[in-house]
Amino acid sequence: MSDSNLLLEVCGVSNVYETSSLGFLGRKRRIPVLKNINFEIRRGEIFGLVGESGSGKTTLGNCILGLLGYEGTIRISGKERRGLRETARNIQAVFQDPDSSLDPSKTAGFLLEEPLVIHRAGSRTERDRRVDEVLELVGLDSSYKRRRVYELSGGQKQRICIGCALVLEPDLIIADEAVSALDVSVGAQILNLFRDLHERLGLSLFFISHNLNLVYYLCDTIAVMYRGEIVEKGEAEKLYAAPEHPYTKALLEAAPGIDRPPQGGV
Ligand SMILES: Nc1ncnc2c1ncn2[C@@H]1O[C@H](COP(=O)(O)OP(=O)(O)OP(=O)(O)O)[C@@H](O)[C@H]1O
Ligand SMILES: [Mg+2]
Repeated sequence: MSDSNLLLEVCGVSNVYETSSLGFLGRKRRIPVLKNINFEIRRGEIFGLVGESGSGKTTLGNCILGLLGYEGTIRISGKERRGLRETARNIQAVFQDPDSSLDPSKTAGFLLEEPLVIHRAGSRTERDRRVDEVLELVGLDSSYKRRRVYELSGGQKQRICIGCALVLEPDLIIADEAVSALDVSVGAQILNLFRDLHERLGLSLFFISHNLNLVYYLCDTIAVMYRGEIVEKGEAEKLYAAPEHPYTKALLEAAPGIDRPPQGGV
């Protein structure tokens, strides 16, 4: 019997990039990136993926989003994902750079309403109400609806990106280096916003970062990726206190220690 608490199951996922340049004997070179990835995310969990640059974190996120092909199985709420459109609504993403995610000439209200219009969700009044709700959730008031993207700060833009991801009430948000482009204090506010959304909405989050401290600060469970493999995975407190894999130990030694906020229930 399937476990209804399981939101995402990644089973034996591998992926290979084909380069455009031709190698020896004129064949396209195939570069394996992900190697037999296995993990699961439960409903209401904040799952962190940490690893050095180039280890394959974004590639894995893109496989889950349906943007890249892979071998193996990815199940969402017990259903095997096939094709791109199927995950479009229940898994949403927030990326590193809000400037490349948002059209600068559009208003925040237009961008927040757009996913609802595309999915033909609700009447005009209902959509307007949902946009107000989402603005409140991301810590902005309804006057921001009329503000154009170029009139917003980096932190406010990232809040709009999070709002766009939230507006269709997804089961899971994939946040790929979502605070890495922001300065430290603004990044901390966005981390706290994710925590707040997790507590208020029971939001499940797949949080990707190269920074172990950020992942430890936010996440319940941490997976450590090294050269396309998950080399260690476990409860955040345990992994941080007693890492087993040499690569996790090296990551910890390189990161100055931080305190985690008290963990609230969902
Ligand atoms: N489209 C592509 N074609 C070929 N190789 C690629 C492609 N995209 C990524 N790669 C390679 O795949 C590997 C993993 O890249 P990926 O972007 O997933 O790493 P990452 O862990 O997200 O790194 P970062 O922390 O810098 O974002 C890298 O070696 C990268 O050069
Ligand atoms: Mg990346």
